[in-house]
Amino acid sequence: MISSRNFLSGVIRQTSAFVVPRNVCFNKKSNGRHTPLNAKPTQELTGVVFEPFTAVAAELATVDKTSASQSFARVNFHVDCEAALNEQINIEYNISYVYHALWAYFNRDNVALPGLSAFFKAGSEEEREHAELLMEYQNKRGGRVKLKSIVMPEMEFDHPEKGDALYAMELALSLEKLNFLKLRELHATANRHDDAPMTDFIEGQLLIDQVESVKKVSEYVSQLRRVGKGLGVFQFDQKLAEELEA
Ligand SMILES: [Fe+2]
Ligand SMILES: [Fe+2]
Repeated sequence: MISSRNFLSGVIRQTSAFVVPRNVCFNKKSNGRHTPLNAKPTQELTGVVFEPFTAVAAELATVDKTSASQSFARVNFHVDCEAALNEQINIEYNISYVYHALWAYFNRDNVALPGLSAFFKAGSEEEREHAELLMEYQNKRGGRVKLKSIVMPEMEFDHPEKGDALYAMELALSLEKLNFLKLRELHATANRHDDAPMTDFIEGQLLIDQVESVKKVSEYVSQLRRVGKGLGVFQFDQKLAEELEA
């Protein structure tokens, strides 16, 4: 008398050429073997059965040949995407540098607009954070970060008709809009190479915030156009400082 447990293990051992679905019925005996009535040969399921060791063989051979100076992580990452990420890193650094110059300008004793100064300091840090985010992503994908030269920015921002605050904010708006267009170009490059994780990264981590930045700076340009120069700028600056502290 065979126990049900031994009976089943016997079936599995003896019918290794079959995939045994749940709730199968068994022939008690057929040519000395127990076989399930509704089992199907594995050959029929070849298209849906994942065979990891076979599937990974080609990649394993590639990994084996990868030298320590190359990335092990790199997979499906086009050189155009790698180059475009380095371009964008440079753009973010350049904008950060201009905002840093604006921070220093509004922080001068003979300008003394602490709200605008703090706004551009935060903006400079944010752009640098974007550069770091892109660098981190470049490394994550197995690309190589290449930092390029950044341009020396203007240091004087007092426009004869507009004054310094409006001129600086219009400059910031132009930079934010330019950055938006550059991010769209980066996205288009990733799209061209069918790089879904990269398009997702650009959309989720950068483009959404960029749209917000353009809107915010546009509002500041509108307000500064209304207030004119002098006392209006002083009051705008105080409100901006309060907003940033909140
Ligand atoms: Fe940015
Ligand atoms: Fe920005």
